Amino acid sequence: MSQGALGALALGGISASGGAILAACGSEQPSALKQHWSSPSTTEPPEIAGRRWWLEGGFKPVRNEVTVTDLPIKGALPPELTGLYVRNSSNPLRGISPHWFLGDGMVHGIALDQGKATWYRNRYVQTAYLAAGGGLGAGVPGGASTLSNVSVIEHAGRTFSLGEVGLPMELSASDLSTLGPVDFGGQLKGNFTAHPKIDPATGILHAFGYNFTEPYLSYHRISADGATVQSQDIALPRATMMHDFAITDQDLVFMDLPVVFEMDEAIKMVSSPDSTAVPYAWKPQVGARIGIMPINGSAEQIRWVSIPPCYVYHTVHAHREGSKVVLDVCRLDSSFAPQGTPSALTRHRWTIDTAGKHLRFHDEILDAPPADLPTVDHRFVTRAARHSWLAEVSSRPGEVAFAGCQHFDAKTGAVQRWSPPGSQRSGEWLFVPTAAGEGEGYVMSYVYDPRRQLSSFVVLDALAVSKGPVAEIPLPVRVPYGFHGCFVTA
Ligand SMILES: [Fe+2]
Repeated sequence: MSQGALGALALGGISASGGAILAACGSEQPSALKQHWSSPSTTEPPEIAGRRWWLEGGFKPVRNEVTVTDLPIKGALPPELTGLYVRNSSNPLRGISPHWFLGDGMVHGIALDQGKATWYRNRYVQTAYLAAGGGLGAGVPGGASTLSNVSVIEHAGRTFSLGEVGLPMELSASDLSTLGPVDFGGQLKGNFTAHPKIDPATGILHAFGYNFTEPYLSYHRISADGATVQSQDIALPRATMMHDFAITDQDLVFMDLPVVFEMDEAIKMVSSPDSTAVPYAWKPQVGARIGIMPINGSAEQIRWVSIPPCYVYHTVHAHREGSKVVLDVCRLDSSFAPQGTPSALTRHRWTIDTAGKHLRFHDEILDAPPADLPTVDHRFVTRAARHSWLAEVSSRPGEVAFAGCQHFDAKTGAVQRWSPPGSQRSGEWLFVPTAAGEGEGYVMSYVYDPRRQLSSFVVLDALAVSKGPVAEIPLPVRVPYGFHGCFVTA
């Protein structure tokens, strides 16, 4: 089984320059107009095939939980950035895992206060799996049996670590200790995935969980005060890996894509810590669909439209234009496909026209260098967001890493980029607003320097990323590459 996932992002060269939006239209498939930016395959390169690269180099798990205070700062840390930046990661307690995605959750946080960096902490998320020795070997995933390694969110004044399955785990924003699993007083049943969306107009948290047995998909709506959970089950023909979704002010947008859950492989995976089995497989023959459900409607009102098979880990954002839902995504040709299957990573704008009896799908390629882990100005979720920031994939052959920051301007098509010097590599660039306008603020990420085997925390002006860091906080520790973070405002 190849990783075939984001963890296998390792590309050949990225070519050329430019960056206008490329209008590549078609009724189903986008036409093959030439892009300024090439989109080479993301398939695991032969140099690392068969290696557990997610246990090496910048991915290698760290063993100790540390606390460092009064950190030095290069440049000027904007005083408006007062709060906690915290990012999740996969950090197997036992030192091994069958896949990058399948280690125990560890959060890495840095507390910022009026231009100072008061502390850095890394802490395991105290799940039931962790208490049982780590990994997936201690029972069926669900509830507190979660790896809780994907993302961190803040909602209704509480901070949650989230995983692909299981319950949210509440964290203390004061020291990153785990307060425990949260089922909202028994209201939340089933799984809760790592990419819920907060509607900035209502404060409602829209979320979903996918399950390995029926019901395969459940939608959850959590009230703005965090007190009430309403759930609806959505019928699917099979269990598929549904990592992300999107919302507009009127719609929930689900992606039923052909990475299919494999029970036999799951049993192999949990039966031995040395197993390399993973519980998903690429099955394009089952088809791919987008589902649109009214945000205030019922599961029976969901409508589906078939699309060409592909996989999307992350939506960039969605909004509605009249009868059309516009959805920007980071699209892979495949994921969890057999070793050697080509899989390019490209930015697409999908438009789903909801007028008429049947949905109509339109596909357009956006001309930007290969990148993933998108973030937007969260105040513009559901609106026609202009700005997005993504982690570019490294262009070094044989390397599995994200490289630097890409700012994409959807209005002009302009791409701004910044890469850390030399062999240093970043992760997700989280946007944090500090002024009223869209994009007025900063983006931030941990950056790893393999030469020194140390990391730093880097802050860029969100609308001028190519100018390089406005502040850098060197850390006396290594922060392994990870996934998604959030900023908890003090
Ligand atoms: Fe994700």
